[in-house]
Amino acid sequence: MFYRSAGSGRPLLLLHGFPFSSEIFWPWLEEPPAGVRLICPDLRGFGQSPMQPGPSTMEAFASDTLKLLDQLAIPTALVGGVSMGGYAAMALARLDPSRVSGLVLLDTQSSADDAEGKTRREAVAKDVESNGVAGLVSTMLPRLFAEGVSPQVRARVEAMMRAQRPEAVAAASRGMGQREDSRDILARLDAPALVLVGEHDVVTGPDKAKAMVDVMSNATLEVVAGVGHLAHLEAPAAVTQALTRWLSKLA
Ligand code: MLT
Repeated sequence: MFYRSAGSGRPLLLLHGFPFSSEIFWPWLEEPPAGVRLICPDLRGFGQSPMQPGPSTMEAFASDTLKLLDQLAIPTALVGGVSMGGYAAMALARLDPSRVSGLVLLDTQSSADDAEGKTRREAVAKDVESNGVAGLVSTMLPRLFAEGVSPQVRARVEAMMRAQRPEAVAAASRGMGQREDSRDILARLDAPALVLVGEHDVVTGPDKAKAMVDVMSNATLEVVAGVGHLAHLEAPAAVTQALTRWLSKLA
C-alpha cells in the first residue's frame, strides 16, 4: 500500500474520498498541522496502490489500513477521512476500536445507501468500466464545491479524478453500495471525534454531520461557512484551525 507521510507527533491516519488518492490532502501534506504525523495511504487501486480483486468494501480498505499501521508499528492513531474515507475510517473502528484514539470525520456520513443509492452505485460502476471515468467526473465535479472555489483547486481535483483507474473506481463504487450503517459503532466508541462539514456540502451535508454527532458521546461539530464537500481544500486555513483547536483539547 502506497502512502504519503508528513509532520511529526501524534499519528493521524487520513483516508481519501472517491474517486481520489492521498493527494487530496495536499494542503496538510505540504504544511502539516502542528504536533501530528500524517499518514495518508492510497486506498486499494487508487493512486499508486495496486488493485485487488472484488468490490473494494469499506472493510477491505480498513483492513488494508490496519496492516499499514502494523507495518509502521503504530498501535493507536487518530483515524479520519473525507467522505468515502470517513466510511472506511468508521469500518476500521468497527474492525478494531482499540486502534482508534480519536476520529476525524470530514464531510462524511454514517448512513448506508438506500435501495436507489445502491442501484446508482452499480450503474456508476458499469458506466466507468465501459466508458472510463469521464462521465462520473462531469456529474460529480459540479457537486464537490461551493461557488467561488479557486479554479486551481478545481482543476487539480479534476486531474486527480481523471487519473484514477476505472477498475478501482468501479470496485469502490460497488464497495460503497455494500457499506453498513455505522451509527452503532459511533455510539459505542468512547474516543473523541471531530465532525467537520462544509456549510454548502450537497453530497454529505450538515444534517448528516449532525446525525453523527448526536449519537456520539464525545464529538465536536464544526460547520465551515461558505464551502462545499471538499471543505479542507476550499477553506484550508479554517479547517486547519478547527483541527488544531480540537487537537489542543485532546492534549
Ligand atoms: C466521496 O466524496 O468520497 C463520495 O462522494 C462519497 C459518496 O459518493 O458517497
